[in-house]
Amino acid sequence: MSSAAFQTAFQQCLNPECRATFDVGQVLTSCPHCGSLLDISYDWNSIPLPRRLSDFQQRWSSRLNPLDYSGVWRFRELLRFAADEQLVTIGEGQTILQRNDRLATACSLQPGGLFLQYEGLNPSGSFKDNGMTAASTHARLVGAQMTACASTGNTSASLAIYAGVTGLFRCIVFVGSGKIAFGKLSQALDYGAMTIQIRGDFDDALARVRQICEKHPIYLCNSVNPFRLEGQKTIMYRVLEGLGWQVPDWIVVPGGNLGNSSAFGKAFLELRQLGLIDRVPRLAVINSAGAATLDEFWNTLGLRWNGGRPDAGVIRDRFERMDRQDERAATLASAIEINRPVNLIKALRALEVCDGVVRSVSDQEIVDCRARIAATGFGCEPASGATLAGVLRLREEGVIASGDRVVCILTGHQLKDPDLTMAYHSGDPALAAKKLHPAGVLNTPFANPPVVVDNDETAIVQALGLDPR
Ligand code: F0G
Repeated sequence: MSSAAFQTAFQQCLNPECRATFDVGQVLTSCPHCGSLLDISYDWNSIPLPRRLSDFQQRWSSRLNPLDYSGVWRFRELLRFAADEQLVTIGEGQTILQRNDRLATACSLQPGGLFLQYEGLNPSGSFKDNGMTAASTHARLVGAQMTACASTGNTSASLAIYAGVTGLFRCIVFVGSGKIAFGKLSQALDYGAMTIQIRGDFDDALARVRQICEKHPIYLCNSVNPFRLEGQKTIMYRVLEGLGWQVPDWIVVPGGNLGNSSAFGKAFLELRQLGLIDRVPRLAVINSAGAATLDEFWNTLGLRWNGGRPDAGVIRDRFERMDRQDERAATLASAIEINRPVNLIKALRALEVCDGVVRSVSDQEIVDCRARIAATGFGCEPASGATLAGVLRLREEGVIASGDRVVCILTGHQLKDPDLTMAYHSGDPALAAKKLHPAGVLNTPFANPPVVVDNDETAIVQALGLDPR
């Protein structure tokens, strides 16, 4: 696969000892010289940038142009790796920042102190579309006929929708067995993806799809693909837009494979370098306690970015122990049930740039917080619930101050995982015993169970607490 170079951007190795550069027309998911992750870098002088971020708002007046309508491509100067005519869009990124004073109060933040960036509104129902529109653009640019990803569900739904809507390429998705939420699996099947369900978990599926894509002409769309992360930067641009181009104090995001965390850090690093913002927010990455690799590296083992030279021995030892002991991630937040986050190094950079913190929260906290967010009208999936749990924890610790302005990224839609929602609310002991108890979730304090009543006026009026008439 090859294509003409697009001159404003190039791929660059993250390793400071290497820093090799590659044309955007090459298909790479790691540096061929040293094996490190790749970044997309830009020759900013050759890109006509707006003088202020608020200039991007002018695109709203021309939103009949699909590129200006897209919540990703209306910021295209900040991810200029392809020409306008090459960009793929299906109307992604129509998400807005929602002020939520009820949850602010619950977190003892001031009114106007808590915002939700509701990425469930994307065409496939998760934030992944922000990245997949960019990966699809690159796949088209290099003439890929076949694409693939491994997934805990949302990446596969997103790739499948892009393949289905555009018809540009075939798509194969690899999923682990058992754990994927049905809403997501049904999307991949419905959109026509060839779905390979392997015996194993997400980490196994990712290792396998990487191996196969290296040997065959299949374009890999996981977040080791550096183009995907360029699209995910725009979530932060929309957050800034929602705040009238002011920088919040905190961005709080669930951490799985750490693509989002990495992309957010890069977004702010670049905006600061370009003089488009004068400060960066702090970043809080929230792991599930059942998949807390980043938490362990950051808080227990003290791993740091260290100018691009994180301690490789610490990482190797930890992963070797994981293999020896056959450690497996286990959490009800299946989206982030990941042991080996592929973007670990980039996430360390993001944490450095954004003076970040990492916490992990239990499945009980995750499902309770998911229900609390949903009760304010923003139905999200369990992984997204980790954000509120993280805010509550960081408020308790005094790390987030009562006067801070906090933005939680709600990464996926509630309808992705209705089984869990029903297990939480229904009060059905069989469902709870199957779904919740094995994960240590024994209480459902925010449950809203259905009220079962005979089909009888008197009984219904009584159940409603009204006087009989
Ligand atoms: N939230 C949701 C809803 C997700 O689907 C994922 C990742 C994450 C958070 C974690 O984001 O990897 O950028 O740290 N889902 C992937 C998938 C792994 O296959 O759909 P991350």
